[in-house]
Amino acid sequence: RFPRRRSGRLFRRAHPHRSAQPAPAHGRLAGMSGLRFEVLIPHGQIQQRVAELGRQINADYAGRSLVMVGVLKGSFMFLADLIRHIDVPLRIEFIGTRSYEGTTTSGQVQLTKDLDRPIVDEDVLLVEDIIDTGLTLNYLSHLLEQRQPRSLKTVAFLDKPSRRRIDVHGDYVGFTIEDRFVIGYGLDFEQRYRNLRDLCVLVP
Ligand code: IMP
Repeated sequence: RFPRRRSGRLFRRAHPHRSAQPAPAHGRLAGMSGLRFEVLIPHGQIQQRVAELGRQINADYAGRSLVMVGVLKGSFMFLADLIRHIDVPLRIEFIGTRSYEGTTTSGQVQLTKDLDRPIVDEDVLLVEDIIDTGLTLNYLSHLLEQRQPRSLKTVAFLDKPSRRRIDVHGDYVGFTIEDRFVIGYGLDFEQRYRNLRDLCVLVP
């Protein structure tokens, strides 16, 4: 017997992601006894803001093309959502840095992955997960300026200005947050929890 494909019920069952449940508003982190998280910015609000950033970038870069450089690993989810709202021609590059040990910065920025291709004479948009102390952005903007792009700007999903150690800023910022350690939407705590749909805070 063939399933009745026109039935809405069958269709929905065949595409379970369409009715995916939102992440819980708060919870206990699996495998990390004693750690709890709470939602700081829910997924829907993130999506609205990312769409706004996309519109702003489209207006500012109209008639040009972009190289969007995602800073690994934290920016991957933001980058993936953001580019779906950008309609100027673009290519994607990734660059990797490491500067964090647990919840405290080591103060050192290390390159873990370089660009695959040159960016000379290109309009480059560096895509960061969060500007915290500013050390990473400072390091990367100097590094990329040496490659002689036509222009270099930064879009950051989050900004934590109260923790700044170097005077840098994002040209486009999704949300400015207080000094809380955040996880989810690409951001990790000891390499985990990047897959949370909402931006969450760890509750001691
Ligand atoms: P910086 O201190 O501005 O150099 O930020 C370095 C990196 O630390 C960011 O790109 C993030 O990957 C990470 N980071 C900073 N604050 C947080 C946080 O609250 N949660 C998770 N990662 C963070």
